[in-house]
Formats: sequence, structure tokens, C-alpha cells
Amino acid sequence: MDQMIYLDNAATSFPKPDIVHDTVRDFYRSNGVNPGRSGSDLALKAEQMVFETRKRFSAFFNPSLVRQGKTKDPDRLVFTMNATMSLNLIINGTVAPGDHVVTTALEHNSVIRPVNHKVRDDGAEATFVSPDPEGYLDPADIRKAIRKNTSLVIVNHGSNVIGTVQDLKAIGAICREANVPLAVDASQTAGVIPIDMAECNISFLAFTGHKSLFGPSGTGGICVADDAEIRGTTFGGTGVRSAEPYHLEEFPFRLEAGTHNLAGIAGLSAGLTWLEERNIGEIHKQEMRLLGALQDGVADVPEVTILGTRRLSDRVATMSIVVANYDPSDVGTILDVDYDILTRTGLQCAPLIHEHMATSPRGTVRFSVGPFNTMEHIEAAIEGVGKIAAQRR
Ligand SMILES: Cc1ncc(COP(=O)(O)O)c(C=O)c1O
Repeated sequence: MDQMIYLDNAATSFPKPDIVHDTVRDFYRSNGVNPGRSGSDLALKAEQMVFETRKRFSAFFNPSLVRQGKTKDPDRLVFTMNATMSLNLIINGTVAPGDHVVTTALEHNSVIRPVNHKVRDDGAEATFVSPDPEGYLDPADIRKAIRKNTSLVIVNHGSNVIGTVQDLKAIGAICREANVPLAVDASQTAGVIPIDMAECNISFLAFTGHKSLFGPSGTGGICVADDAEIRGTTFGGTGVRSAEPYHLEEFPFRLEAGTHNLAGIAGLSAGLTWLEERNIGEIHKQEMRLLGALQDGVADVPEVTILGTRRLSDRVATMSIVVANYDPSDVGTILDVDYDILTRTGLQCAPLIHEHMATSPRGTVRFSVGPFNTMEHIEAAIEGVGKIAAQRR
């Protein structure tokens, strides 16, 4: 195998589909004018592209509303630079001093850190609910953690460490009953597992563009339910009503300020076109078939421990392992240097799940499969892990 094998799709998807490359490459040649800032044809064309993309993603995250012929307000689909910015906007816009947040030990630092800052700097409180040893939350534990002053429940949908996918419908029902808004970090699932905000009672869905949606980096957003309440926390130019001394309350401006990443949004829209032409269920099935083979193959190596679940349902195609007698970062380096296989090692920005699995502080070697991987890649990875393990047998 003389070509690099990319098994780090949970970090970012690679490669991107051709339609995304072509759209981004051509964008500024034909359409690169600031929308909302002038009435020129070019500005209107850019504005239309942004609005159409809002509409497409609003529908994508609300399929049951589409089926019922209802319209989701597209202006409540706001664009950000990434999931981190989306999650900060959600947490800062819903948690005030004295409020309580329920979140989980599965979270990425883009939830853990803003929540910790709310606690340390703003006098908020937080409860981190732990999953079972496989990595699944018991929705009843979320119910138990909710208090009178809980202003937000924020949960990871798909783990970027072990791939477990949580039952959003059950968690959403609990939040509905308790009348607490539910925010979901869909960084690892948007584009690979169907999400229905209305059906799952999700108030805020944070997504990133550069992973399973196949958009460029520097793209992402929040889909805000039509009845959800959130304060804006970023203020500045909106291109309209410039005489107003304060930032505009109406969506999308409430959560957007400044100039958009226009080529990025165009590329994100192209990524969605690519996904819709393929059917995300089929992509997921193929990825899980490869992950299942990888899991079975490395499980036969006596020095390998697979962390968390081995289920192939309620899971994205991500798996973490440790190899006896090795630091995970050394395994990652040898896979890269000697076998040209790219993985991700360490704590993967999710330290609490590693504490839970007793893999702190060194973490794991993470393999994450994407739609451009093949069975040949998987066989090469199994062989590489087997040979590395055998060297220190
Ligand atoms: C679960 C999870 N949340 C949040 C993020 C942050 O995403 P972004 O890089 O778009 O800010 C990631 C990225 O690795 C992730 O895996």
C-alpha cells in the first residue's frame, strides 16, 4: 500500500467530495460579495445562497416537520465558524449566574470548558452525568440531575472517543416533561445519523461543517427551535439597520455578527448536496461494516483492549483501543511513520470520558472510518496493529 490511509475522520473528514472542492474554488470568482451590505445583483446572489443554505439545513434537521408540510423558520438556522463557537453561543445565551446546567462525562472540551467557566467565573452550577461502562447514558440519570434552577441540558450525541450514540428521543422527552431546553452537540453525528429536532424536543442543535457534513473547515452552525429562548452574546455589524445602538434581536442576527464565511457556506451546501445524492443511511451502513471488520480484526490481537462499546448499532464508526506495553501516542506514531496510517491518539479533547474509562492521562489510539475508506484500508490497519503489538510481546 503506497498511499496514506486516513482513519481520522472524527477529527475532520478527508478527503472532501469533488463537488465541495469545485464549489469553494469557484466561489470568489463569481459570487464573492458581502450579502446584506448592498443591493447589487452580486450581493443579492450571495444573500440568496446563504438563505437557501439556511433553508436546506433547517429542513435537514427537521424531517418530521417537512413531512407534515410545516415550515421551520430558516432564519433560526445561524452560521458560526465551528461547533465550538456554536456551543459557546448556546451555553452563554442560556446559562445565567445562579443557573444549573446538566451535562455529561461524554462531552468534548467545547462543552466542558464553557460550562466550567460558567461555574468558576459566573456562579453557575453544573452536574456531569456519567454513562454506563459501555458509554451509554441512562436517560433516567438526566432526569435525576435536573433541578429547579436547571436552565440547560446539553448532551453529546455521538462520542468522538468511542462512538456511542445517545438516545435523544428519550432524553428529549425528559426535558419536555421538566420544561428545560435541550441542547445537542451533533459534531460527530450531523450528516451520518438522521436527527429530528422536533421529534426529539431539541431546542438547540450545534453542528460543525468539516466532519460528516463534508463542508470546509471554518463552517458550522446552530439550528434553533422556533420556540426556543436564547440571548445573543456577540454584538456587532449586521449590514442592516446600522443606526440601532444595540445588536438586533431578530434571527438570524441575534446569534450572528460580522461577515460570513461565504465560500465556506457555499461549500457546506455542496457537501449536503453530495450527502443527499447518496443517502446518509447507506453511508453509515458502509462505515459500520468497515468498523465492524476493524473491531473484529484488532480484537484477535491479544495485547489489544477495545474501550467502551462493541455494539454496531447506536454507534458512529469510531473506536478507541490501547495496546499493552505501549503508550498510545507511540502506537499512533508507528502507524503513521511505518504504515502510513493516520489515527488520533491521546485524550481527543474529551478528558472526562477517559477518566471514566480509566484511560487518563495517556488516552487511546482512535480509529475513525469515513465513506472514502475501503476494506483494504481496514486490513492494513489490522495488520499494522498486530505487528506493532507483536514487537513487544
Ligand atoms: C463531539 C465534538 N464536539 C465538538 C467538537 C468541536 O468541533 P469544531 O472543531 O467544529 O469546533 C468536536 C471536534 O472534534 C467533537 O468531536
